[in-house]
Amino acid sequence: MKVRFFIIVLLFTCFYSPIINPCSIVAFIGNVLCKVRLLTKELPRLEYRGYDSAGFACHDVVTNDIVVLKKPGKLDVLKELALKSPCDGYAAIGHTRWATHGGATEVNAHPHVSEDGKLVLVHNGVIENHYQIKQQLIKQGVQFRSETDTEVMTQLLAKCIEKAGDLKKGVLACVKQLKGACSCVALHKDFPDMLIVVRQRSPLCIGLAKDGMHVASDFLAFADKTDTVFFMPESSIAFVKAESINAFDYDGNALPIELKQVHLQPSAYEKLDHDHFMLKEIYEQRVAIERTVAYYNSLGDDLWDLLGLTKEQVENLKSMNLFGCGTSWHAARIGQFFFESIADLPTAVHLASEFRYMKFFAPKNSLFVAISQSGETADTLELIRYFKEQDAHVITLTNSPMSSMVRETDGHLLLKAGPEIAVASTKAFSTQLTGLYWLAHRIALQKGLIDELEMRQAEHDLCYAAQVLEKTIEQYKIDIISDAAYYAQFQRIMYLGRHVSYPFALEGALKLKEISYIFAQGYPAGELKHGSIALIDEHTPIVLFSHQDPIIYQKLISNAQEVKARKGHLVSFVFEGQDELIALSDKVYIIPRVAPLLEPLAMTGVMQFFAYQIALVLGRDIDKPRNLAKAVTVE
Ligand code: M6R
Repeated sequence: MKVRFFIIVLLFTCFYSPIINPCSIVAFIGNVLCKVRLLTKELPRLEYRGYDSAGFACHDVVTNDIVVLKKPGKLDVLKELALKSPCDGYAAIGHTRWATHGGATEVNAHPHVSEDGKLVLVHNGVIENHYQIKQQLIKQGVQFRSETDTEVMTQLLAKCIEKAGDLKKGVLACVKQLKGACSCVALHKDFPDMLIVVRQRSPLCIGLAKDGMHVASDFLAFADKTDTVFFMPESSIAFVKAESINAFDYDGNALPIELKQVHLQPSAYEKLDHDHFMLKEIYEQRVAIERTVAYYNSLGDDLWDLLGLTKEQVENLKSMNLFGCGTSWHAARIGQFFFESIADLPTAVHLASEFRYMKFFAPKNSLFVAISQSGETADTLELIRYFKEQDAHVITLTNSPMSSMVRETDGHLLLKAGPEIAVASTKAFSTQLTGLYWLAHRIALQKGLIDELEMRQAEHDLCYAAQVLEKTIEQYKIDIISDAAYYAQFQRIMYLGRHVSYPFALEGALKLKEISYIFAQGYPAGELKHGSIALIDEHTPIVLFSHQDPIIYQKLISNAQEVKARKGHLVSFVFEGQDELIALSDKVYIIPRVAPLLEPLAMTGVMQFFAYQIALVLGRDIDKPRNLAKAVTVE
């Protein structure tokens, strides 16, 4: 292919992990018909991002017009319709949606079409000032069909292009009026050899392949076609043809096309022989943890540069602040014990979605860590911005090297989990625990609280816990599979823990409820007697996560007895030698002993596999549970 544009080739080899926002965009322009590929390869790879409805449009080679097809529901519904349709083209766009403005209906599905029928657009993000713009457009006589913010952008863009009489000027006039996340790709009737691309907030990248240009929200979509990728910079527009990309900033200045080489093995984004991505990802955890530890070990003193800290700043650290949402918040809650016990640092944990309503007393010499698989979660991003306004030093622990969080923080430490496709977080959680445990030790080493030998021991302990995580799944696999039908009949299940096993119980309950839809509650075991014990009867199984500390263990035995005295069915995750608890339990999973504080990591595999099997019996859509999206980019 002849490439006619200015290229700065930046060789960049990384273990790629996806950048995620709800909704996915794919698009293509090139020298082959692309309907089948977009609908059967590229969109399915990104469907985990949002799956309320799906749509497709192309410059149809038969009718010489733009054809639009869209349907509410999963991508398969659209696929059936579109693959029967004779339409096809050399330029096309596709979309799967996670509904924000307006329900999951056909009219609200993307692509949206401008009133004059010329412009057809798919969008990823939320346009914050859509209401005001819509009112202005209505005054100008524009009639809207849908309830979406995307249609507002579509109508505005069409009007701006028409008014400017020049494509570039029109697109720039439009994007300057929009606030929020408005990344999109559009087809225009008057420019059949071109894709119009805007990147604002939500990520978009362009792959240069032999057959043409592939545009997508995530490189995963076209990873089998090309390694050569242009990641569109923030606030940029591009006009993409089969053999060229012309990109501009919002002032209209031409941007260099900096190409990156991104290598991703197909095994990283294919299910292979697993029934679900979640299962594949559960099994990938040992390797992911070992890879993460090996990467950290290789960093040496470069670590501090990555975190944007000097050694003196680390030595003077007086406290830690950890924050995130969902599973990442649970990892933070467990991480609190690491920093306090290992690095002697008082640690506060904040739920990102709640913190902004609280008064903030900015501590001096504190390190703020945003924990996020995707690096795109809106609540966490907003809290990063809030802390940064207070001059806090904020870093992110994330699985997504190209994410907004990496861009907006003062430093980052990457997880090496690899792409996590299933909506339920598994290997991101275990590598987050790995990252937090390792960092607590590394800070302790820098502060002189531990020596090199203890640091290496911590790395060894992490890898050993990872082996336990994997081995125990194998050990209990048959048991869990055969018991799953029994647990699947209950309406509610309670998860209990103490100390590190309490936040782990929160995670256990979240895992079960998000994929099985069984109501599950994580609770501190000691609080049971203060009220929730009223719920315990033979219809409410209790999952209890034990602890190796003898004092905490004794207390957990008392809690187990309270449950048994009320006819509760007790499922216990115990450590080897905890015979008293084993005797009290109806079902036990015995876990080999690991380093204190790594108990949650060791129990993670069986906990996740238990939830997975119950959801499987119930016939749930495990990788794409109802109402969810992989990362939540709305507050
Ligand atoms: O990408 P993040 O780690 O920031 O996502 C935070 C939560 O939305 C996420 O952990 C969510 O709770 C998962 N579905 C849990 O499995």
